[in-house]
Amino acid sequence: MERIDVKPANGKLGVLCVGLGAVTSTFMVGTLMARKGLAQPIGSLSQLAKIRVGKGSHKEYKKIKDVVSLASLDDIVFGAWDIFEDNAYESALHAEVLKFKDIEPVKDELMAIKPMKAVFDHNYVKKLSGTNVKEGKNRWDLMEQVRADIRNFKAENGCDRIVVIWAASTEIYVPMADEHKSLASLEKAMKEDNRAVISPSMCYAYAAIAEGCPFIMGAPNLCVDIPAMWEFSKKNNVPIAGKDFKTGQTMMKTVLAPALKTRMLGLRGWFSTNILGNRDGEVLDDPDNFKTKEVSKLSVIETILDGEEYPELYKDIYHKVRINYYPPRNDDKEGWDNLDIFGWMGYPMQIKVDFLCKDSILAAPLLLDLVLFSDLAKRAGMSGIQTWLSFYLKSPMHDFEHKPIHDLSEQFAMLKNKLRELGGYEADQEID
Ligand SMILES: NC(=O)c1ccc[n+]([C@@H]2O[C@H](COP(=O)([O-])OP(=O)(O)OC[C@H]3O[C@@H](n4cnc5c(N)ncnc54)[C@H](O)[C@@H]3O)[C@@H](O)[C@H]2O)c1
Repeated sequence: MERIDVKPANGKLGVLCVGLGAVTSTFMVGTLMARKGLAQPIGSLSQLAKIRVGKGSHKEYKKIKDVVSLASLDDIVFGAWDIFEDNAYESALHAEVLKFKDIEPVKDELMAIKPMKAVFDHNYVKKLSGTNVKEGKNRWDLMEQVRADIRNFKAENGCDRIVVIWAASTEIYVPMADEHKSLASLEKAMKEDNRAVISPSMCYAYAAIAEGCPFIMGAPNLCVDIPAMWEFSKKNNVPIAGKDFKTGQTMMKTVLAPALKTRMLGLRGWFSTNILGNRDGEVLDDPDNFKTKEVSKLSVIETILDGEEYPELYKDIYHKVRINYYPPRNDDKEGWDNLDIFGWMGYPMQIKVDFLCKDSILAAPLLLDLVLFSDLAKRAGMSGIQTWLSFYLKSPMHDFEHKPIHDLSEQFAMLKNKLRELGGYEADQEID
């Protein structure tokens, strides 16, 4: 077996977050607290999980960070863009996710993280207005400004490498257009300032790829999930991943749906509803922004429970997803699921799930893993869509020839196998 050459994780890793809201500030506080030994990075595989390497009498269980070379938390330097001027400390207080006592020990580091001016278009997020926004003559010019930000951040902070991750608001639904189908047509549309097809998030993604930095899309925005960006990321040898962090309700769906299929139990309907009161909930209260999220959340069940393959079990499933903005709950999202299933001779049964979660608490460890694994992929010379990171995503990106993998256990197997390969071990089909 030929060993993949992975460059060591030497030097500082700049983590540039688009959006400095609830998720990003929770991610930053937790990372800074963990590196001081004041909090545990619960939920992060890169920090906690062990995987099996080797087989039979040679098998061993090792921490992922002892299998592959990952950037140390001590080497992370944070930066961000946002349309509001609040620094990371102010943003964490505003989000009200974490208690004061869990923020205060890293106050100075957080106060130093001041957001750079954002690329923003009110038409893409109608519920928000901010002043910390770039001006430019067209989308191409704005993209060039983001490139300059990345270069300056890297130089000023002495970073060896940079990863860019989107944890900003969900943009309105943008269908795939001809302009998205090749790099040349995308660049032309950016230079012509075709604002209907080039979203602000595309300016960040293009800039990151142009600077050779991995880019991760944590919202369901079309953004980097277009042939033009796949082409660009291959051309520039940059890993890309997306879309939409798989945190609460959808994570449960991708566990429950495979369970039904494994037992050959039928499904008539799946109704999912959420109440959420943070800024994300407010943005998603706009039907155009919700549509982007809805498409992402709906895609999961159809691929796992295939009505064509098993018409007697999964034909015409009624699947509905709702998100209701409900301020009293803030970041404490409550997600209800009702499943109408059927068993032997078609007899009906029901399953109810009530997940009282904390949205940003679930999302933060995903950001850490996605950032560290994307940096690893870059050092291993990998480029284009990183399907092995599907584990973390609601709408895993895939080209037109492949189907996405949604089943959480299959995604976990893909993730472990890629880590084994990158660590110099063989990928395998053994059961752990
Ligand atoms: N928390 C979860 O479980 C979860 C799961 C999946 C996806 N997400 C997505 O993650 C994103 C962040 O969620 P959140 O709860 O932190 O939301 P938030 O509203 O608290 O933060 C988003 C921030 O992005 C900023 N922003 C908006 N447009 C911007 C732009 N063009 N450039 C720079 N900044 C911009 C906003 O000003 C805001 O501060 C949302 O898109 C959300 O849908 C969250």
